[in-house]
Amino acid sequence: MKIIVLGSAAGGGYPQWNCNCRNCDGLRRGAIRSRARTQSSIAISANGSDWLLVNASPDILAQIRATPALQPARAARDSGIAAVLLMDAQVDHVTGLMMLREGRPIPLYCSAPVWQDLQAGFPLATVLAHYCGVDWRELAVADGEHCSFTVPQLDGIRFTAVPLDSKAPPYSPHREQPVAGDNIGLLAHDLVTGKKLFYAPGLGAIAPLTAAAMREADCLLVDGTFWTEDEMIALGFSSKPAAAMGHLPQSGAGGMMEVLDGLPASRKILIHINNTNPILDEDSPQHATLCGHGIELAYDGMEILL
Ligand code: MLT
Ligand code: MN
Ligand code: ZN
Repeated sequence: MKIIVLGSAAGGGYPQWNCNCRNCDGLRRGAIRSRARTQSSIAISANGSDWLLVNASPDILAQIRATPALQPARAARDSGIAAVLLMDAQVDHVTGLMMLREGRPIPLYCSAPVWQDLQAGFPLATVLAHYCGVDWRELAVADGEHCSFTVPQLDGIRFTAVPLDSKAPPYSPHREQPVAGDNIGLLAHDLVTGKKLFYAPGLGAIAPLTAAAMREADCLLVDGTFWTEDEMIALGFSSKPAAAMGHLPQSGAGGMMEVLDGLPASRKILIHINNTNPILDEDSPQHATLCGHGIELAYDGMEILL
């Protein structure tokens, strides 16, 4: 199984268009050692030519251009994207669907609550019905129950969607009344190599089902949004702590570093990194702390072979 990180930043990307935080300003001026990142998305393939796009970021066209494997050029009109899967209905994970409207009907794997959000709160599916159309394949997760499935053209990979404790988007009717399926984690099991990836770019808390999936994984690609719980408040950018946005910060008691320390995975990688996170500065003490724990930072173009 091959995984390509198409985008490793949280919503807004890095640098964010209107942001002059230490990272965004430092990156623009070349004053810090750091790399630009586009918004959260990965691609998974079993054969190297047919890919499951996991999340459709607002940066999707630039991500496709930067990734030759996604355009195998087998016909006059072609794409290596066999299907799309959504982890949630957040703006940074779904907006790119509009950019796929010139193609054939989009095979779209997502939960029922996400599908509802895409018809009502942010009606991308309704709009796309007038272009290529969307062919919905339900991920039937329920409270405490995951759901396993396969994707045509990705033979040899067994996928499991795991309901997560995180947050529906601000526009969703379930923002404050969470339902199972607002957010999922994805376990991808290569049946040939036996290796497992667990991907969860938005992970607010580790429920038992999530902990079990994380324990199984050889490679974890998880929520790296914030370093501290009050990161956005301390910078004066928001009144919300990380928990209110459905993200578990890396530092502090019960934080992501502590969670990852207790897991056997041979690779532990953070993704969906917010532009304010000090770990983006490769010379920061926080970056050094992560390295000390054997934790890596995803970057755009990163390839993982499992
Ligand atoms: C989030 O995960 O909280 C999002 O990145 C927010 C957004 O896209 O605006
Ligand atoms: Mn996000
Ligand atoms: Zn910034």
